[in-house]
Order: sequence, then C-alpha cells, then structure tokens
Amino acid sequence: MEEDVNIRDAREFDACAIAGLLEELGYPNTPEFVIRKLELLGDDDNPVFVAEAGGEIVGFVSLHIMPVFHEEPLYCRITAVAVTETYRRRGVGRRLMEHAEAVALAAACGRIELTSNERRTWAHVFYETLGYEGTSRKFVKTL
Ligand SMILES: CC(C)(COP(=O)(O)OP(=O)(O)OC[C@H]1O[C@@H](n2cnc3c(N)ncnc32)[C@H](O)[C@@H]1OP(=O)(O)O)[C@@H](O)C(=O)NCCC(=O)NCCS
Repeated sequence: MEEDVNIRDAREFDACAIAGLLEELGYPNTPEFVIRKLELLGDDDNPVFVAEAGGEIVGFVSLHIMPVFHEEPLYCRITAVAVTETYRRRGVGRRLMEHAEAVALAAACGRIELTSNERRTWAHVFYETLGYEGTSRKFVKTL
C-alpha cells in the first residue's frame, strides 16, 4: 500500500522521533544528541529530512554533500536512512531516497552513494531495487 507521505526539513521539535528512528537503526541516543547534531550539521551541505505520514514522523534521511580531491563533481553521501518498523514496505523509504536524489541533483552532485553493513541484507535489496549498485568494499579501522 502506497502511503501519503510528506518529506520536509528536519526541525528541532522532530528530535524525539528521530532519536527513536536512530535507535531502530542500531544507534541508541537521546533527543538532546539529535538536537546537537541538527545544530552542528543540518545545513545545506548536511541536510536532514523527515517523512511524515498519518500525522507522525515515520522516517528520516541524512545527507552529506562533499567535494572530493580526485574528481570535479561533488558526491552526495547518504549517511543514514530509516523508516519506522510499522511503516515499512509502504513506499516511505523510496520517497526519502527520491528526495535525497533530487536534493543531490539540485546541488550539482555527480553521484549519490552510501555504505551499508554486510548484515543488512534487506537494505541491500532495497537499494538495488532503487537502482544502486554495489561497487566497492569498505575497509574500516576503529581508532
Ligand atoms: C531499508 C528501509 C529504509 C526501506 O524502507 P521502506 O519504507 O520499507 O522501503 P519501501 O517500502 O520504499 O521499499 C521500496 C522497495 O524496496 C524493496 N524492499 C524494501 N524493503 C525490502 C525488504 N525488507 N526485503 C526485500 N525488498 C525490500 C521492495 O522492492 C520495495 O518495493 P515493494 O514493497 O513495492 O516490493 C527500511 O527497511 C528500514 O528503515 N530498515 C531499518 C533501517 C535500515 O536498515 N536502514 C538502512 C541502513 S543501511
């Protein structure tokens, strides 16, 4: 079932809902943490958007638009995306990703990309369905 979804900029009063979504994503935190992040980031290069449906916040996506040394076009990195469990498979994630792509295009990005943990196999199907290709391996060293 396609949901009637509105995508808009995240605001301070969304902090509680976003904190809950981050928790669902596996990053437990507090509304204060989200407010601090929205103050620090949440600008044109680091926009955060929420999805509203049925009168509540049901998803969010955060972006990082960045220049890279080795190429001229900007990159858009999706740093996090989540839809609350009870609203999944209703097209909300697709709407958030389409919005992210429109914002990236408007900012003259040449590509949009993200990383996703190997264990999130459902998310990989979601990204592939939306036309994303798995092209790289990620190497991480905790500091
Ligand atoms: C991944 C996530 C954002 C997808 O959001 P969503 O609103 O459920 O996705 P949509 O309903 O827009 O799905 C669009 C299409 O992607 C595919 N898809 C989405 N979730 C899928 C799943 N669990 N299994 C298989 N295909 C899936 C389907 O083709 C779907 O279309 P359909 O329902 O018409 O078949 C959501 O599952 C989520 O928040 N998961 C937990 C957090 C997470 O893993 N985030 C990604 C971190 S890398």
